Amino acid sequence: MTRMIIVRRVADLRAHVSGWRGRGESVGLVPTMGALHDGHLSLVRRAKDDNVRAVATIFVNPTQFGPNEDLSAYPRDEAGDAAKLESVGCDLLFAPDVSEMYPAGFATSVSVAGITDHLDGIARPGHFGGVATIVAKLLLQALPDRAYFGEKDYQQLQVIKRLARDLDMPVEICGVPTVREADGLALSSRNRYLSAAERQIAGLLPRALAEAAQLLADGRAAAPLLTDIEGRLIAAGFGSVDYIALCDGMSLEPLAAARPGSRIFAAARIGRTRLIDNWPVL
Ligand code: PAF
Repeated sequence: MTRMIIVRRVADLRAHVSGWRGRGESVGLVPTMGALHDGHLSLVRRAKDDNVRAVATIFVNPTQFGPNEDLSAYPRDEAGDAAKLESVGCDLLFAPDVSEMYPAGFATSVSVAGITDHLDGIARPGHFGGVATIVAKLLLQALPDRAYFGEKDYQQLQVIKRLARDLDMPVEICGVPTVREADGLALSSRNRYLSAAERQIAGLLPRALAEAAQLLADGRAAAPLLTDIEGRLIAAGFGSVDYIALCDGMSLEPLAAARPGSRIFAAARIGRTRLIDNWPVL
């Protein structure tokens, strides 16, 4: 197994990636915030299947966390993450510190309108501005051929596709299917916050979404069905539901009934853990 290179400076990232691309070797980029699980590793495997080189980034981006969110508690384990990346053939890890990404005087932000008017754009004000800014920076720093993002964060994936198109970035944005536990729970770095009892309850979320998706596909109206599901989640032990909505899969606009390309989206809290998930409808 070739040893994975670890760099912390943008200049070193660029030197390696441009060297590879100059030799005709394609490069796939996998941006992450660390605390890696099999979902992340599936992105790296896909990057490695599609390209000669795979580059992962680990940066817990402060600008995408709200004031009452879990920035300081966000799990960090660079040594463990590096071992996992190396085990799936990642060629290079870029792990900058905050001052490398946001040097003194940093004053620019990227915002994507429209898609961010819904779902987490409302529930987490400012979140997508932070995501769009850091992902735009990572894409411009690395200049890869392709970049990979999980469909669990489906709205984020649409935001990133939009920004890459709108800013004429010469990169293909690739969505990768969600990896799930045996009971359907989507893998997430935040699942480690769940107690054993909460973990049992959490499996209800994907099951409820799958069931609702089937009923919506059969022609049921969205509003009463989604209200019913919200009630079931609360009755089962979820503390609150930020949203559960049927939306167009591209624009993220809410829909009253299913149509081709629609998806159901949910964000719900158990204890201190916020879970998000989504499911295709038609
Ligand atoms: O999905 C994530 O882990 C983050 O939002 C991302 C895309 C790495 C940007 O910080």
